[in-house]
Amino acid sequence: MKATILRPAVLGLTMLGLAVTGCATGLGGDREEAMETVGGAFKPIGAMAKSGAFDQAEVSEKAKLIATELEHFGSLFPEGSEKAGGAALSSIWSDRTGFDAARTNARDAAVQLASVSDPAAFPAAVGKLGDACGACHSKYRAEY
Ligand code: HEC
Repeated sequence: MKATILRPAVLGLTMLGLAVTGCATGLGGDREEAMETVGGAFKPIGAMAKSGAFDQAEVSEKAKLIATELEHFGSLFPEGSEKAGGAALSSIWSDRTGFDAARTNARDAAVQLASVSDPAAFPAAVGKLGDACGACHSKYRAEY
């Protein structure tokens, strides 16, 4: 019961968050915007997993958005764009293979999450995606 009351509120906040981002410009701003989208889509999924709820349609829609955005994210780091600002570390350029593997790994976890239909499988699938976010951040993103 608690979850059904909470969910629309979390979603509303997320949409508000998306609407006010985008103040930075250029590639650095594009990267932040892409990750804001990923983070905004992941938030309600994480909240759902925590509360023990599972709304398959919403999870699927948000997880697909994350997968698409992670594809797009990969195009935002061309050679010579190390100085575009933001929290992207230079290890992205010095270890491009590792960065792309971390991105593909997270993308695959999002695709997998989008197809989950069994509520019992939901928490583990969310955990897998969350771990994949963290694995990239710990190596390729500066501490905030
Ligand atoms: C392949 C690497 C990679 C993966 C996977 C990844 N991120 Fe990120 N993320 C980054 C980098 C790099 C930045 C810093 C971007 C910048 O500031 O230029 C970032 C920044 C962010 C930010 C801060 C955005 C801002 O306002 O600047 C959030 C939120 C975020 N990521 C959430 C997530 C979530 C949630 C996932 C998993 C669903 C995820 N990320 C997966 C690399 C990744």
